[in-house]
Amino acid sequence: MGETQFDYPKEPEAVTFETPFGKFGIFTCFDILFYEPAVVLVNKMQVDTVLFPTAWMNVLPFLTAIEFHSAWAMGMGVNLLSANTHNTTSAMTGSGLFTPEGPAAYHYDSATEEGCLLLAELSAHPRLSPTYPPAVNWSLHATSIEKLPGENNTFSGTVRKDIFTFRELRHKDGNCTVCQGDLCCHLVYQMSNKRRDEVYVLGAFDGLHGSLIKYHWQICTLLKCPSTNLSTCGQPVETAQTKFDMFSLSGTFGTSYVFPEVLYSGVQLAPGEFEVLRNGRLKSKHGTSKPLITATLFGRLYGKDHVSLGVAHSPETGGEFPPEP
Ligand SMILES: *[C@@H]1O[C@H](CO)[C@@H](O)[C@H](O)[C@H]1NC(C)=O
Ligand SMILES: *[C@@H]1O[C@H](CO)[C@@H](O)[C@H](O)[C@H]1NC(C)=O
Ligand SMILES: *[C@@H]1O[C@H](CO)[C@@H](O)[C@H](O)[C@H]1NC(C)=O
Ligand SMILES: *[C@@H]1O[C@H](CO)[C@@H](O)[C@H](O)[C@H]1NC(C)=O
Ligand SMILES: *[C@@H]1O[C@H](CO)[C@@H](O)[C@H](O)[C@H]1NC(C)=O
Repeated sequence: MGETQFDYPKEPEAVTFETPFGKFGIFTCFDILFYEPAVVLVNKMQVDTVLFPTAWMNVLPFLTAIEFHSAWAMGMGVNLLSANTHNTTSAMTGSGLFTPEGPAAYHYDSATEEGCLLLAELSAHPRLSPTYPPAVNWSLHATSIEKLPGENNTFSGTVRKDIFTFRELRHKDGNCTVCQGDLCCHLVYQMSNKRRDEVYVLGAFDGLHGSLIKYHWQICTLLKCPSTNLSTCGQPVETAQTKFDMFSLSGTFGTSYVFPEVLYSGVQLAPGEFEVLRNGRLKSKHGTSKPLITATLFGRLYGKDHVSLGVAHSPETGGEFPPEP
């Protein structure tokens, strides 16, 4: 699906402007997955808030709009004001006012064509806020713990076209490790109850995603499978029935760009219900108030992307995202 009607700049532009309520940056849609301009605006230009208009097609399990956009705001430590097109026929819904501490307000509605005005009070200079989260070393905890035995019980599954290594969580609670490439993911968990009709896995992915543009992902995920048939693990699922009394997820990430995602049944976010510790653990604070679809650490290794010059910023070649048919 080429979007040939759009031109693209030879050099990516970093667009910012100053206001009495902080420094703003702008980028759109697919830009959010790349180093330029998205990361440059935050790290180099030090914007406080990003304005982000988008026509974002929801892609479970990791790239649904509210899920990924709120995670990016947390991972980057910046406000992200996301205004998504609302068109349920195109699977586009989900906007929000996202902060480094979590979502301040969001809207997701796949049932009606109604729009919504979101209002919230945000910190104009989030880095100066007393509640600004501390810097995270995303590999510190995971590199400190012993790999658990049982490496034999893993299996492969695909999330869209990416081949993940999964391990089924067979018990109500436990500790578990799964590795792929340079990435080992560790999970400590306790389900409120272990249902016979629901299967969860711990998954790891370390590799290139995409066909024309190849971008490097490292992903650790606690994920619900659509059915008890393990071959379905990795396929999208929107609802769940299992709550967790606790989870703690960490990975041996080779990047400081990791976006923490937690998604509840019905494609709902979990504001205030989880935290990221300085040592890189994504951890529930109490139990989950709703059943869990996924808790994921989504890492980007921008330096390992395979992007040939000239096509890097072309929506045409990025046309497989929104998703491949
Ligand atoms: C929603 O998307 C569909 C499919 O792309 C398109 O035909 C329709 O015109 C869109 N609706 C609006 C209101 O933009
Ligand atoms: C994070 O922790 C790892 C493991 O202890 C260490 O090797 C690495 O240098 C730390 N990274 C940063 C950015 O401090
Ligand atoms: C994996 O299976 C092999 C062959 O059955 C066995 O020798 C090995 O001990 C197993 N490893 C673990 C970690 O369970
Ligand atoms: C599981 O992890 C918890 C918390 O990190 C730890 O206290 C416990 O000893 C671990 N159990 C096993 C069997 O490794
Ligand atoms: C399990 O799921 C796979 C993939 O969806 C499917 O091909 C297979 O037929 C299913 N097996 C059973 C026993 O339902």
